[in-house]
Amino acid sequence: MSEVSVRGFLFVTDLDNTLVGDDNALKKLNQLLEQHRQEYGTKIVYATGRSLTLYQQLTTEKPLLPPDALITSVGTELHLDTSGNACDPKWAQILSEGWNRELAVATAAHYSDLVLQPDSEQGSFKVSYYLTPKAAVEVLPRLESQLQESGLDVKLIYSGDQDLDILPRNGDKGLAVQFLRQKWEIDALNTVVCGDSGNDIALFSVGEERGIIVGNARPELRQWYEANQTDYRYLAKAFCAAGILEGLYHFGFLDN
Ligand code: GLC
Ligand code: MG
Repeated sequence: MSEVSVRGFLFVTDLDNTLVGDDNALKKLNQLLEQHRQEYGTKIVYATGRSLTLYQQLTTEKPLLPPDALITSVGTELHLDTSGNACDPKWAQILSEGWNRELAVATAAHYSDLVLQPDSEQGSFKVSYYLTPKAAVEVLPRLESQLQESGLDVKLIYSGDQDLDILPRNGDKGLAVQFLRQKWEIDALNTVVCGDSGNDIALFSVGEERGIIVGNARPELRQWYEANQTDYRYLAKAFCAAGILEGLYHFGFLDN
């Protein structure tokens, strides 16, 4: 893999309602990023909640640039070779510490409000449900303490007022990006992460990466942003890829 030059950076973005959602802005951003990648070795990484199957489906619907690495299933799968389906074994090893998928499923089975998502969205290191916001208020704290009582050290991520992911303690989008940064030896200051919803909070909270929150961000992320303001996170006015562009100019990753 070629080196990142002084002007190059690590660009990490969520897909649904962040990179994808405004076709014209996506085209413009793609063009600028591809040019930057060719000139400066900038690296492009997608960090999505989708499984690899649903990611591949999206690539048939939208003109996505081939990424340098792909993080799928809310950070629980890392694909360094994006031409195949293989997951990085070192990342899988880290996630497996303290994880017990069967026990997580058995504990969650006590809650009738939790509706399993389709099989394609269940992963070795991810159990996912649908949950209404009304039920979430009561279910989330109870489930969390019951999982703890079962001796499970897991993470609950609720996104978009509908999706609940149970993940290993060592796994989420932000931790996957840190793993990549260390592997590629790229500084947090030279990294920018972009997102719109609850499962992206991990991208923004893990360290001092520059953060772009698109203007159409969901309330859960917006509230988190407001409670945790710093000058290395930027709430864009524009939506989706246009908001990303606005943020890249704001931080000086792209020249105006
Ligand atoms: C994507 C995934 C789903 C997950 C959601 C939120 O929609 O397909 O499994 O629950 O992202 O992370
Ligand atoms: Mg999204």
